[in-house]
Amino acid sequence: MAAALSLEGVSKQYGDFRAVDDLSFQVAPGRIFGFLGPNGAGKTTSIRMALGLVQPTAGRISVLGSSDASKVRDRIGFLPEERGLYRRMTPVEAVVFFAGLKGVPSAVARKRGIAMLEAQGLGAAIHRPMKALSKGMAQKVQLITALAHEPDLVILDEPFSGLDPVNQQSLETLIRDLAKRGATVIFSTHVMAHAERLCERVVLLAKGRKAFEGSVDEARSAAPRRLILEGAATDDQLRALPGVAEVATDEAGVRTASLTPGAAAYDTLRAAFAQGLDLTRFEMREPSLHDAFIVLTGGA
Ligand SMILES: Nc1ncnc2c1ncn2[C@@H]1O[C@H](COP(=O)(O)OP(=O)(O)OP(=O)(O)O)[C@@H](O)[C@H]1O
Ligand SMILES: [Mg+2]
Repeated sequence: MAAALSLEGVSKQYGDFRAVDDLSFQVAPGRIFGFLGPNGAGKTTSIRMALGLVQPTAGRISVLGSSDASKVRDRIGFLPEERGLYRRMTPVEAVVFFAGLKGVPSAVARKRGIAMLEAQGLGAAIHRPMKALSKGMAQKVQLITALAHEPDLVILDEPFSGLDPVNQQSLETLIRDLAKRGATVIFSTHVMAHAERLCERVVLLAKGRKAFEGSVDEARSAAPRRLILEGAATDDQLRALPGVAEVATDEAGVRTASLTPGAAAYDTLRAAFAQGLDLTRFEMREPSLHDAFIVLTGGA
């Protein structure tokens, strides 16, 4: 099946600054895809190029099989990074307006909009002006305006920012439901927990370049495994164990030994016990996507 989005050697130059540098990746249809990277990595610039809102300096982009995003815009839903809807419109009016731009008849959009707003807990606010809504509420309305035309490709730029934990969770559910319905969902974030729970594949961008592309598990394996150790053994004793790259101690005296890539924690522990080191507790800690993010972006 053709990719929902494909970038090939895409770059964006602003003066002598290269915001995006030779970026290539593909997003398979019907998947949830995480577009990750620290602030200023080039995520928004890439998204805007994919949507045809910014012209790339070099490279080729294909969206839903078209090299011209404007030809498929009715099949795309986009939540931009900068939020804001017409302040005097009500949520229902906003949904009808934006869905109308994508060719949805207003009676259909109205019915769908009310159902979606109610499902997102905005039932009491549907006829209040946008300016009377809280920031998080307004953001949920904006998200619904991006989805009411039932797009095949949904692109969300930092959709979780500004939402409380409960709303973050309901957004995760919404994203899963979109994918179940067959839509492709691409979202950017620097909060790895969301990507870890939602994405099959991620691309990690750092300083405009692709630092990683693959599954969440593959990304995790880029970060060192850790052993949490407690007891009277000294840092120097722990550092001398096979497979230990470094040892850090927190205020409570708990030591964390980072293992060298590929080292087996079992060998480290066996050596510790063979040497009779005083250890009262040990625990294996698999790296998280957050750990991988720090390693892969060089701590950026
Ligand atoms: N119109 C522009 N003119 C000049 N530089 C720009 C322009 N737009 C973006 N940049 C620069 O390109 C780089 C990437 O910006 P971009 O907004 O794509 O990052 P981002 O990954 O979305 O970051 P964030 O996580 O903070 O949203 C930044 O250094 C930014 O200053
Ligand atoms: Mg951005």
